[in-house]
Amino acid sequence: MSAENLKRELSSLQKDLEKKLQVIASREELDNLKVEFLGKKGKLTGILKGLGSVTVEERAQLGKIANELKKSLEDNIDEHLKSIEENYYSDLEKLEWSDMTVLPSRFPEVFIPAVSRGHIHPISQMQRRLEDIFTSMGFSILDGPQVETDFHNFGALNFTDDHPAREMQDTFYTLQNHLLRTHTSAVQIRGMKKLKPPMRVIAPGRVFRYEELDASHEHTFYQMEGMIIDKKVSVANLLYLMNTLLEEIFGSKVEIRLRPGYFPFVEPGFELDMKCLICNGRGCAVCKHSGWSEVLPCGLVHPNVISAGGLDPAKWQGAAFGLGLNRLVMMHNGIEDIRYFQNANPSFLYQFDI
Ligand code: DAH
Repeated sequence: MSAENLKRELSSLQKDLEKKLQVIASREELDNLKVEFLGKKGKLTGILKGLGSVTVEERAQLGKIANELKKSLEDNIDEHLKSIEENYYSDLEKLEWSDMTVLPSRFPEVFIPAVSRGHIHPISQMQRRLEDIFTSMGFSILDGPQVETDFHNFGALNFTDDHPAREMQDTFYTLQNHLLRTHTSAVQIRGMKKLKPPMRVIAPGRVFRYEELDASHEHTFYQMEGMIIDKKVSVANLLYLMNTLLEEIFGSKVEIRLRPGYFPFVEPGFELDMKCLICNGRGCAVCKHSGWSEVLPCGLVHPNVISAGGLDPAKWQGAAFGLGLNRLVMMHNGIEDIRYFQNANPSFLYQFDI
């Protein structure tokens, strides 16, 4: 073959490759094409076999052209490979994209309990409801320590050292002679010292008593103390407050009655009963057939307590009440045993998932 022909063939090889590349979209096709043009038995080698029949100068010239051509063919192929890969990944992204957040669970019966979000304890639910009711009436929420001094729990609340009323509340003492507060009334003094009257406060929280346990007695339970201090506070104010409160909680009109009750920190002191909502006063198991449920001990704050709080009892008067949160939840939901609240039994607690 003449040198001219060889040159022509070499230059047509480039065009031939470019044309074929246009329709090649996969790696395999490209590999085959590479073998076809540049392999040991490929087109370039085939053409170069013809070099034997040309002069030495022509061979040197053609050899140079062939080398450059080889390099350029390789470059073309590499470039094409790159674009095939880029297309591959962008197609893959479109093809395989899925929004996992909208996929349904494949095993709902296994997964739903495993990701269950839990819920607020029924006592805390009641506490939050009460906090909403009271804050909407202008009350502040106070917190106090659960490990208290004798002064805050008893002394300042008008329990003298030998006062038999101390026996009313069986107390857990610590080795340092502190105690676990037996009632949230212990927050009254802290409240008076901290805030300036006139004031309205509630103090929800955990209290403890060394009790013989039964369906209505627990060693750990929850109360909410409420107190108003103002220039003039009367039993009528107290009654109005208690009525509003109970109607908000139970969502209906309630009938209440007062009986005298003894608590050293109030004078007069009352037991406030509410007409049983279950039987409407006719008598049932829940109200122990009396037609009334004892819900709210309360009274007007004793002058000694006002003094212990650092206020002048000639200027300031007060009313206070103590709500038993466990009891309230029990009445609200018809629960017959107080021990359910502390025993962390999920099948009891799940009933209050709201
Ligand atoms: N602290 C009392 C108790 O736990 C409840 C109580 C009674 C609170 C009368 C009061 C009150 O504020 O006025 O038994």
